[in-house]
Amino acid sequence: MNILILGSGGREYSIGLAIYKENAHNLYFMPGNGATDRLGTNINIKDYNQLAVWAKDNSIDLTIVGPEAPLVDGVVDIFKQNGLVIFGPSAAAAQLEGSKVYMKNILKKYNIPTAAFIETSNEKEAFDFIDTMSEPIVVKADGLCAGKGVIIAQTKDEAKKAASEMLSGAAFGDAGTSIVVEEYLDGYELSVFAICDGENYKVLPAAQDHKRIGDGDTGPNTGGMGAYAPTPLVNDDIYKKIEERVIKPTLKGMQQEGAPFEGVLFIGVMVVKGEPIILEYNVRFGDPECEILMPLLATPVSELFYKGATKQLDKLDIKIKDEFGVGVVMASGNYPYGSSAPAEIIVDEIVDADLLENSHISYAGVEKIDDKLMATGGRVLVCVGFGKSIKEARNRAYALCGQVHFAGKKCRTDIAYQALK
Ligand code: AMP
Ligand code: GLY
Repeated sequence: MNILILGSGGREYSIGLAIYKENAHNLYFMPGNGATDRLGTNINIKDYNQLAVWAKDNSIDLTIVGPEAPLVDGVVDIFKQNGLVIFGPSAAAAQLEGSKVYMKNILKKYNIPTAAFIETSNEKEAFDFIDTMSEPIVVKADGLCAGKGVIIAQTKDEAKKAASEMLSGAAFGDAGTSIVVEEYLDGYELSVFAICDGENYKVLPAAQDHKRIGDGDTGPNTGGMGAYAPTPLVNDDIYKKIEERVIKPTLKGMQQEGAPFEGVLFIGVMVVKGEPIILEYNVRFGDPECEILMPLLATPVSELFYKGATKQLDKLDIKIKDEFGVGVVMASGNYPYGSSAPAEIIVDEIVDADLLENSHISYAGVEKIDDKLMATGGRVLVCVGFGKSIKEARNRAYALCGQVHFAGKKCRTDIAYQALK
């Protein structure tokens, strides 16, 4: 097949790498990054209507959308209107991520377990609700805020301040003029992904992300500093509850709403006393979760996404390798506070046969400048290791980190700690 991948991060690189290894397809990336051109061809057509014309002219058989922004902007609708096969939700279904108010209302309407909340655009209403709550209190901006729109307030005053700043538009502009105020959930967090075709679904092994910059989950939030899967923190009982109480009613509910969900349903779960409670939905793969899940699939990734895009998931028996994956993000020096000067990336030749076979790099914030691979983004690359245990996979991921050099590089040293406690 001719396959087009939209996006430029480690997530999109890892989808591309998995398809590249199938040895059967031509890959295109829009826009891709400084390393995706090792896997295929980078193109640069930003307008989705023009891109759809290009896809038709170039006989693209399948388009895969990595990030949320093009989904919320309706790229899937435009491609489908042009008769193209594309894997991802419509703009209507992408509201599950595009609007936290929409998402919470769907959860409530279809009785899916989630934190008690109100949604409001009114400061007095927000304050009155906050006064009835126990601390800490969670305040969320409605719209997309690049992962920054959630405040965990330790006191009622702090919650009110956050609510006011969002509602006035001072904090996040229009994305914050509606808010969700909700109870704080105390438990452990999971990332669960269901590949959906509107009706049928396949669940991937549960992963754990590490959102804070520092070891021991300290410091500010980031896009995610590392992930591993499958996590032993999930048992069959929790998977079953997630399927019955969350995935099935969501797919049914979205059909009833007239916005059937096709694509990757990313279920942010908090497990509280053995019960899965939904924190949020995203409508795409997590990054860096994707980087470890793609290589764990024994089923060809192209087939999984093609069947997802053409309502044939009921005909697919998904196979997962009997292995663990650990991914460690290597970030640039000033991440997540600001940008860093471009720095050349040098990867030592890997001589250890075992490491060579059981690890690889997924490139993210990289550009080619004067034919050199340069670190130019915040999260630069992900070192991914595999093994028969989490420990083995983690040792390989960190061994690979030791082979990668660029000025200012930093990574967490404790990825997967919750599984190894
Ligand atoms: P969200 O964008 O909704 O996933 O929120 C970002 C992060 O904030 C989540 O990954 C959680 O770590 C945390 N969070 C969000 N909502 C809650 C909540 N109700 N209770 C505790 N932590 C939360
Ligand atoms: N790793 C979390 C996210 O992609 O939102």
